Amino acid sequence: MAEEMRIVLRNYGKIDPLKIEDYIGVGGYQSLAKARDMGQAAVIDEVRNSNLRGRGGAGFNAGMKWGFSYNTPADQKYVVCNADEGEPGTYKDRIIMQNDPHNLLEGMAICGYAIGATKGFIYCRGEYPYVVDVLNTAIDQAKAAGVLGDFDIEVRMGAGAYVCGEETALIESIEGHRGEPRFKPPFPGVEGLWGKPTVVNNVGTFANIPVIIDKGAEWYSSIGAAKYPGTKVFTLTGDVVNKTFFELPTDVTVRDVVFGMGGGVKDGKKFKAVQIGGTSGGFIPESLLDTQVDFDSMGAVGATLGSGAVFVMDEDTDLVDVIDRITKFFEHESCGKCAPCREGTKRMHEIVSKVNQGLATAEDIELSERLGRVMTRACLCGLGQAAPAPLLTTLAHFRPEFNAKLG
Ligand SMILES: Cc1cc2nc3c(=O)[nH]c(=O)nc-3n(C[C@H](O)[C@H](O)[C@H](O)COP(=O)(O)O)c2cc1C
Repeated sequence: MAEEMRIVLRNYGKIDPLKIEDYIGVGGYQSLAKARDMGQAAVIDEVRNSNLRGRGGAGFNAGMKWGFSYNTPADQKYVVCNADEGEPGTYKDRIIMQNDPHNLLEGMAICGYAIGATKGFIYCRGEYPYVVDVLNTAIDQAKAAGVLGDFDIEVRMGAGAYVCGEETALIESIEGHRGEPRFKPPFPGVEGLWGKPTVVNNVGTFANIPVIIDKGAEWYSSIGAAKYPGTKVFTLTGDVVNKTFFELPTDVTVRDVVFGMGGGVKDGKKFKAVQIGGTSGGFIPESLLDTQVDFDSMGAVGATLGSGAVFVMDEDTDLVDVIDRITKFFEHESCGKCAPCREGTKRMHEIVSKVNQGLATAEDIELSERLGRVMTRACLCGLGQAAPAPLLTTLAHFRPEFNAKLG
């Protein structure tokens, strides 16, 4: 059975998150001091060599991203922490921020030092006002203790739009504009917040940084899957015995997560499917349970590791009904900036609803599949590109459930 390995949650339950002395007492802020002694380029090399990849969804090498900002000359640079956590079923960032806020601040400050930024923002989900209080208390403490040096951190709150988790929509939102994605390139690393080089990383990504600087790239890259090393915090929901969170090395399998740590399907029922990565994640049938959870292995079966949300469904789950609700979610959350997403999410929900009500034909299902494939390629941002994944993967693995509902 897989065993938990706590790296980002190493201080969970061991320190009082609202006491900076506790964090300092377990070696906190020493990595920031070490980073300043190493020099900017060496810090970026260390992070790049650790092969830490983004924990927010896209899985990009963090050190490489920092390198873009480091190498772009500017009078001002920014560090932005993506704590929007809008993906239904995900709460890993909340766990990290509530229980070890200084670890996040230290990770951001190390990034600030490395790229030459003096200002950082944490963009926190609007539904987490109590987390914002924790963060502000920690920031005040760090400033009073002088540990951050000339690096300043400010918390900004989101207002409930899922698309604002997309990094460029998030940047627009911090700037005070409507949360809509920008065209890329230019990428934020080169031209981000107020047109300046900006590193945007997830809470979980920054939370890995202090320990990487402390223990080194070699140590970190030897943990878990070779191409996506380290650990991942999983949050389990749905028809599973243990509805909780775990931090596991990335070379465990979906079965380890659902049946090992999760204790299997509740009430003695049979397993039907699991959706990993949040609402935009693909559905995995029983035959793929032995797939490794790392970013690339998940991608290879049309699923995504994404935010680490794990939604388990038992034998009684009506998958067409689930997809009906998911497509409704995307229709609601589409920002409307690009036509393929604005129109596509609406039509997709219409068709799936029709199937769910027993009014659709086989041609309708084929049309929804074609629409999904077009959206994956034509939508401006990840919202529309990923929105068809639940439908396309359920059609691939559970098509008879759709056929059974045809009119
Ligand atoms: C619709 C949408 C929502 C997203 N929501 C989040 C989010 O809540 N948190 C997050 O870290 N990344 C989210 N992302 C991914 C970000 O765009 C970006 O890849 C991430 O912040 C980069 O940080 P990382 O490299 O550390 O993962 C979202 C992307 C899309 C398309």
